[in-house]
Amino acid sequence: MNPLNHVAIIMDGNGRWGIKHKKSRNAGHKAGLKVVEKIIKETIKNKIKYLTLYAFSTENWKRPKKEVNYLFSLLENFLINKIEALHKQKIKLKIIGFKKFPKKLNNLLIQSEKKTFQNKQLQINLALNYGSKTEIINAIKGIYKNKNKINEENFKKYLLTKNIPDPDILIRTGDTNRLSNFLLWQLAYSEIFFVKKLWPAFNEKDYNKIIKKYKNIKRNFGSI
Ligand code: FPP
Repeated sequence: MNPLNHVAIIMDGNGRWGIKHKKSRNAGHKAGLKVVEKIIKETIKNKIKYLTLYAFSTENWKRPKKEVNYLFSLLENFLINKIEALHKQKIKLKIIGFKKFPKKLNNLLIQSEKKTFQNKQLQINLALNYGSKTEIINAIKGIYKNKNKINEENFKKYLLTKNIPDPDILIRTGDTNRLSNFLLWQLAYSEIFFVKKLWPAFNEKDYNKIIKKYKNIKRNFGSI
């Protein structure tokens, strides 16, 4: 059975779910956050050490301001209301992305990272204002400036995921089969699961089915 250390998720389909069920995209984001909480619990139950969630891409700034602001307010309230509980469960929160948000949210993100820094039960990587191509360009600039020998091991140290093992599993909900500029380097050998359900409809049972399937896959890493 394959060991499972790291699950990454593209939580797609909030907008469509919200329109269909509540005539509002933002209602879909709110429902999506509830699913995030369920999946965090299930990740701990499965003793998985890293969970990476794509919550806001560098491209998401193109959305209407009302939606962007709603997403930020959801995240702010989540941090204000839940960080203590996350901390108690020994969860470490790490932001992967470029912290260029409104001041209140930026500060909350920094404080939450600091508060949970030592925790070891589960590391949640929130990909926020994250874009893989920008990340790779920055890594190239870093390795070049420091005149480091260019090889995989050194290059990895300049990525935003420095010290984080590559995902074993990528899940994308929302019936769309693409990577959307997410972890392009890190997903090189991940097992990818595209799920038809929209993110707010995704549940623990769906998650556990994927985990079970993953554990029995023969992972060759290029060998036979
Ligand atoms: C993609 O669905 C989802 C997002 C851009 C935001 C994800 C945010 C959440 C799940 C809630 C906040 C999360 C945290 C961790 C606090 P979409 O809006 O692109 O859906 P669509 O394809 O149906 O339009």
